Amino acid sequence: MSLPSLPRLEGVSLAILAEELGTPFYAYSKKALLAPFLELTRGLAPLGDPLICFAVKSCSNLSILRVLAAQGAGMDLVSGGELARAVEAGTPAERIVFSGVGKSRGEMREALLTGKDGILAFNVESIEELRALGEEAGAQGRIARVSLRFNPDVDPKTHPYIATGLHDNKFGLDRRALLEAAAECAKLPHLRLNGLSIHIGSQLTSLAPLSQAFRSLRAVIPEVEERSGRKLDHVDLGGGLGIRYRKEKPPSIAAYCALVLRHFGPRSGLPRPLRVLVEPGRLISGAAGVLVTRVVYRKKQGKRRFLICDAGMNDLVRPALYDGYHEVVSVEPLGRNGAKAVLTDVVGPVCESSDFLAKGRRLAAELPEGALLAVLNAGAYGFSMSSNYNTRPRPPEVLVDGSSSRVIRRRETVNDLLAAERL
Ligand code: LLP
Repeated sequence: MSLPSLPRLEGVSLAILAEELGTPFYAYSKKALLAPFLELTRGLAPLGDPLICFAVKSCSNLSILRVLAAQGAGMDLVSGGELARAVEAGTPAERIVFSGVGKSRGEMREALLTGKDGILAFNVESIEELRALGEEAGAQGRIARVSLRFNPDVDPKTHPYIATGLHDNKFGLDRRALLEAAAECAKLPHLRLNGLSIHIGSQLTSLAPLSQAFRSLRAVIPEVEERSGRKLDHVDLGGGLGIRYRKEKPPSIAAYCALVLRHFGPRSGLPRPLRVLVEPGRLISGAAGVLVTRVVYRKKQGKRRFLICDAGMNDLVRPALYDGYHEVVSVEPLGRNGAKAVLTDVVGPVCESSDFLAKGRRLAAELPEGALLAVLNAGAYGFSMSSNYNTRPRPPEVLVDGSSSRVIRRRETVNDLLAAERL
């Protein structure tokens, strides 16, 4: 049996892309990007008018956003920079929600002045933020549409760095604060409370915590409406659905949709239908992207065998930061020669021992210097979390569509990096 390989993404040879672009680079499959989005769209259709707001932070390239916006996606953002991306990608303001605990006043202004009536919702996370937003909206003569982020105190059973729905996390408002915020909202003339939002964490591999969070959210709706004296228009259920990196068995999109429908669908027993928003990131972009890297050196040290590659933690930080697991496969098929596997660490050139892409993997003993490797499921929180650490220019990004490919971000140059410092 030969070891797995990935010679092509859709109809495009990764080896040829590597020749043309050099390595490392990120490549995305348009088909793999759209498949989960369309499945989610179909699955949520019984809700009537659902809105899928792509979590821009997971993969924020303009061309990726354009592909999704053209399919009717909304955008969930967390900064003024992401707002600029969403707008440039053609997302109408009424499909934009703005999340995050630390929105600056400048960011609030930009979002208030986007489109005719500002964005669809500011997902507000504290009373302090609520007051600041009220002032900014007043100063701009605008009404800010507010969705209060509820912290349901649910353990999402994921990596602690990406759990957000526990009481001790910095995110959202607990029930008491939520009700206070709802009452405060009613007093501030430039705010209109339209919805409630939650997001309990990322890479969730079970529906149980989501179910619990949805139940708590439902329970709090009448109290919020009473305190604010307003009927809500929508609930925003956040993102978080996990993907399969290794042996996880994340819930299917169908099962997720069924859960959403059970809690908020036409037969959910809600006294009044509420529009449902969701904010998936990884689910859409995760499996769509690969990072292609070339082996620079093979090295043995003691019992360890290293493949030293030209991509490192600055290009893909998930293994270093969360111990994230990404499958690594050969780009070239290895045939019978690839049958012998040895335990290998796939590492980068960065000067840290946390600089690895994969540890202790059974990889073909034959992989020579110069071999191309593909790091799988790198579409979410891959390029978007990359950095210039070690003054390493960030890699290019390529979008593959059938048998054609297009560079959607050029490789950075050292000159790009130094230019901002030549003052
Ligand atoms: N909505 C909000 C308010 C969020 O904070 C996030 C992610 C999402 C939606 C999208 O979550 P997703 O569907 O992608 O799970 N860098 C980490 C993940 C951080 C997630 C941050 N928030 C990683 O690489 O695993």
